[in-house]
Amino acid sequence: MSDRPAPTVLTARAAPPRTPAVEISPSEIGLLVDRFYENIRAHPRLGPLFEQRLAGKWDAHLERMNLFWRSVLLYSGEYSGQPVVKHNALPDLQEDDFRLWLDLFETTTATLFGPPTAGPIVVIARRIARSLWLARFGTPFNKAPDWLT
Ligand code: HEM
Repeated sequence: MSDRPAPTVLTARAAPPRTPAVEISPSEIGLLVDRFYENIRAHPRLGPLFEQRLAGKWDAHLERMNLFWRSVLLYSGEYSGQPVVKHNALPDLQEDDFRLWLDLFETTTATLFGPPTAGPIVVIARRIARSLWLARFGTPFNKAPDWLT
């Protein structure tokens, strides 16, 4: 036996895989993204708002939204970006547009999936919408409306 103190042993293990936030597959997310932005483009108010920024760039946007939703729902870690900056830069965005966006998102998810999948996705989307809304419109005198909580 030596007199030397036992070396400090540091062990590191990979974190256990996280259970996805929602039971949904990457291809179902692809379907959701396709359907949702089809509906967005057909929407009388939201369609032109998106088109202003995304004309000629829809494919890249849809790909990015797939990365985003896979990262949010499946913790895939594939998305990095600055959604707040991007949304704050949309000149014609109005407070109530987020309500229209959420209504359409809710209808689209309800058409594609059963309540156990659609329910949590909408809850997560509303939470993100709320933070984007607050970053753009929130002040001490302008709290988030009820439909964002
Ligand atoms: C009225 C509501 C909304 C409008 C009009 C809108 C519009 C847009 C537009 C035009 C872009 C493209 C920006 C660019 O490339 O410069 C964009 C990007 C994006 N949007 Fe929205 N959006 C809305 C709400 C939301 C919500 C609620 C979410 C999330 C739940 C979301 C997530 C994103 C993400 C992740 C991007 C990509 C940002 C990046 O380039 O990294 N959006 N949105």
